[in-house]
Amino acid sequence: MKLSLPKVIAHRGASCYAPENTQTAFKKAAEMGATWVEFDVKLTSDDQLIVFHDEELNRTTDGEGLVSDHRLATIKTLDAGSWFGNEFIGEEVPTFMEVIDVLSEWGLNANVEIKPNPGQEKKTAISALQLVEKNWPKHLSPPLISSFSRDSLITVRTLSEDALLGLLLDTWSKDFVAFARRLNCVSIHVAKEILTQEKAEFIKQNGFYLLVYTVDDASRAEEFFGWGVDSVFSNIPDLLTQVLC
Ligand code: G3P
Ligand code: MG
Repeated sequence: MKLSLPKVIAHRGASCYAPENTQTAFKKAAEMGATWVEFDVKLTSDDQLIVFHDEELNRTTDGEGLVSDHRLATIKTLDAGSWFGNEFIGEEVPTFMEVIDVLSEWGLNANVEIKPNPGQEKKTAISALQLVEKNWPKHLSPPLISSFSRDSLITVRTLSEDALLGLLLDTWSKDFVAFARRLNCVSIHVAKEILTQEKAEFIKQNGFYLLVYTVDDASRAEEFFGWGVDSVFSNIPDLLTQVLC
């Protein structure tokens, strides 16, 4: 499967300039020229998919406690912008569907990272895939669906022969290539801290797209491209043209 990936994918939207994983962060990424964004999806206590990174509400909202202990209606009352700056007061935690609508309107392609609450690896994957299959805009590229959770990836593949899958790695396992092959993954997404030139070449030789997170330094990005890396995830969508953040 041939993907048309950009050099820079906006990580959680333009998260250097706007609160991560919010509608504003995705719109800002598009305004800054991004063609792809990455974001994290997980379930609320009433099994609704939201776009949110942490297990806890504390860091990026004015709420407290686990996402998995709160209903969507409660999470919707929280402020997901003021932690980042006063101009973002009133920003909501978006649902996955609301973000799909933003992608559709702004023509943004996406890497959907399944980020399950502990114990919800299968349920989150099933829910995310159902929502994608029903609602993904036809004018966008199909989403690249990634996860650190092998169970989530296996679940998606069991339900869909066609889904584009990416395996996320923050440590090396002996069998990662065998696993990615078995699941017919198209890509491997690696933490920059563990990637070496040798490992990058090995992944490319095995026929995978290679993506690296999270790279906010332009010269580091260029070094990775020299190793054969296809894309970097960056909080700075215009990383390669200017570094302001
Ligand atoms: O998908 C790349 C990257 O987002 C994975 O790590 O913790 O930022 O979701 P994290
Ligand atoms: Mg992520």
